[in-house]
Formats: sequence, structure tokens, C-alpha cells
Amino acid sequence: MDEKGLPEEKVLELLAEFQRRDMTYTSGRILGSMCTSSHPLARRVYCDFLESNLGDPGLFRGTRELESGVIGMLGELLSEPDAAGHIITGGTEANLMAMRAARNMAGAEKPEIIVPKSAHFSFRKAADILGLRLREAELDQDYRVDVESVRKLISGNTVAVVGVAGTTELGRIDPVEELSEICLDEDIHLHIDAAFGGFIIPFLRETGAELPEFDFKLQGVSSITVDPHKMGLAPIPSGCILFRDASYLDAMSIETPYLTEKQQSTIVGTRTGASAAATWAIMKHMGREGYRKLALRVMGVTRRLRDGLVELDYQLVVEPELNIVAFNHPTMGPHELADRLEELGWAVSVSSCPPAIRVVLMPHIMEEHIELLLRDLEGIRLREE
Ligand SMILES: Cc1ncc(COP(=O)(O)O)c(C=O)c1O
Repeated sequence: MDEKGLPEEKVLELLAEFQRRDMTYTSGRILGSMCTSSHPLARRVYCDFLESNLGDPGLFRGTRELESGVIGMLGELLSEPDAAGHIITGGTEANLMAMRAARNMAGAEKPEIIVPKSAHFSFRKAADILGLRLREAELDQDYRVDVESVRKLISGNTVAVVGVAGTTELGRIDPVEELSEICLDEDIHLHIDAAFGGFIIPFLRETGAELPEFDFKLQGVSSITVDPHKMGLAPIPSGCILFRDASYLDAMSIETPYLTEKQQSTIVGTRTGASAAATWAIMKHMGREGYRKLALRVMGVTRRLRDGLVELDYQLVVEPELNIVAFNHPTMGPHELADRLEELGWAVSVSSCPPAIRVVLMPHIMEEHIELLLRDLEGIRLREE
């Protein structure tokens, strides 16, 4: 740190230079992220609540009510109005909390968790942090978890089974109904990672899309991750962990003698109330109708990309169910194709299972961006011939 401070103007000038090097969502060039431009209202509210600390909620009672309000709205959306939970930093922290609750409640000597091969890498972090053995279940030919493989991995040490509603790479929805039955029979915690799908599947279902149930309506589901900072249009960071009831939070509760509340179940102590307030604001503003319209719009853009790729003879990995399209060039490998696209100014990501270019049609991607992308993909095809 310098001895003497700089004038505010100078600091802002320096920052602007750094910011110019960042990509922006509004350019439409970020194709592989599950984050997006947050809604202007949510951003404003975020700034207004910057000082509120939900780690000491007795001091910020209004913000605590906003957090409860978000939990209530999401619980209702996911079929359990009495669900308990918290607004936290994102899917990673939510999955970590779910695994912690499951481990503490089961009390197994050598705890294990079963996750699909398609599960997000946050479960590896959770396993490492919590001392859990991670067992990976196979996928079926549609890249959903193979229920028989899950069944075979269950042992006396299994403390949780994980299903994914909207996988990170392909947007697949695991057969949660079957997982729910197994977990009810075996009395095992079933956690659903709907970090991505939680803010789109329910709304697509409301428009009549034939997508499977994945939420608390299925009695075996004990907890759900859902991220408002993905398809919910909330500013980063905003994740949410929901439990069927408060006993799961109690199982993680630690005494906090010097604070206004004497128990805390979250992993972090001091935590931003701004996320809860901004998430509350955007959910109130959008309403179900707003999110339904958004879901339909992104699925329209998804279809345009899907159809354009088929016309250009690119190969789809699967028919998209959600707003993620994974595809391959007929002869060029995905990493080489990703490099070509990057040279043309596109930021794409490559999936691992199977290797493919993966485009997430987040709300910042408009039809006109997809037309430009398809033009570049056509150019790449023509140069091959
Ligand atoms: C299904 C799923 N779960 C969890 C996460 C982790 O979320 P975060 O990066 O917000 O911690 C992601 C991130 O993309 C995800 O797709």
C-alpha cells in the first residue's frame, strides 16, 4: 500500500482501465457462463443494503425478514412453503451446507455421499472439507444418473444421495422421482442440486413444458440448492439452500455467544444482507409471470441455436431440455473449435462428459448474438471444405 492515498478521481480512472479488460454480458459474447446481467432494480437495492450483516441478524431485523421472505417464496415455488434455509453465496456453499447437514444428521462412522458423474465439482470440495467419501454413479445414455448405479452404491455409510435438476454441462434433469423413492425406502438424505434449474424448470412447467418433478413435492427430497444469481437475475453472490424443515439447520447449529442471535447454522459468519434484499426485490418485481416470460424467451433463443446448428451439420450431444446446447463439429475436436471461436471473440466453454462445445443461453444472449455466432460457425464449416 502506498504511504499517501490517491484522490478519488484518480482511483476511479485506474479502476476503469482494469474494468475495460473485463468481458461484459451485454456484449453477448459470454456463451459459457451460468451468470448473467443482474436486473437494474436488484443492483440498486444491493447498493442500498450494502451495510447490512446477516451474520448478526438481530441488528438488521428488516433484512432478516427479507431473507425469510425469499426463503418463503422459493419454498412455495418448490412445493414446501414451510421450508427453512438461507441466502448464501451460491451453489457451492449451498451444496456444502446440504452435505454438512446430511452428515451431521446421519452420524455414520465413515460417511459417504453418492453423486452422479455429471454433478458439479462443488461436491468434490464438500467431500474434501467434510471428510466424506465421494462415490460417483454412472449416467445413462441420455446423460442422466443411472438409478441402478445409485442403488448399487448405497451402503450403511451413505449419508446423502445427490440428484441434479439442470446439470452444469448439458442441462439434464435426473430422475428425481425414482431417487426419491429409493431414499425414502433407505432413509437417506436426498439433495437436489437445482442451482441452475431451480429458476427455470418450475416456470417452464407452468407454461406446459413436459419436464419432470424435482422438488419437495417428492417426499424423499430433503434439501434443494437454487441460485438466484443464475437464472433468477439477482446480482452475484446469491445462492439459496432450502431444507424441508428447520431440523436440518439445527443439526449444523453452533453457539455464537457474543452476537444478537445465539445460534448460527451458516458456514460463514459475517454475510451480506444485500444479496437477500436484492433477491427479494427482483422476485417481487418479476413475479411468476415475469420468470415465465423470461424462461420462454431463453428457450426461443435456445431453439434458434439448435436449429441453426443442425442446418450447418454440427452434431448435437442431446436435444436441449433447458437453455443449454452442447454440440460438436463433424471432424474438428471441441478444443480446436473453441480456440477458433475464441479467435473470433466468443467465450465458449468445453464440456467434459462428453467433450463438446457448450453454450448456455443465459438472458444476456439475444437472437442477434446467435445469428452472429451461427455465421461464424458457418464460416468455420466452409473453410473446412
Ligand atoms: C448445478 C450446479 N451446481 C452448483 C454450481 C456452483 O455454483 P456457484 O458457482 O454459484 O458456487 C453450479 C455452477 O455452475 C452448477 O451448475
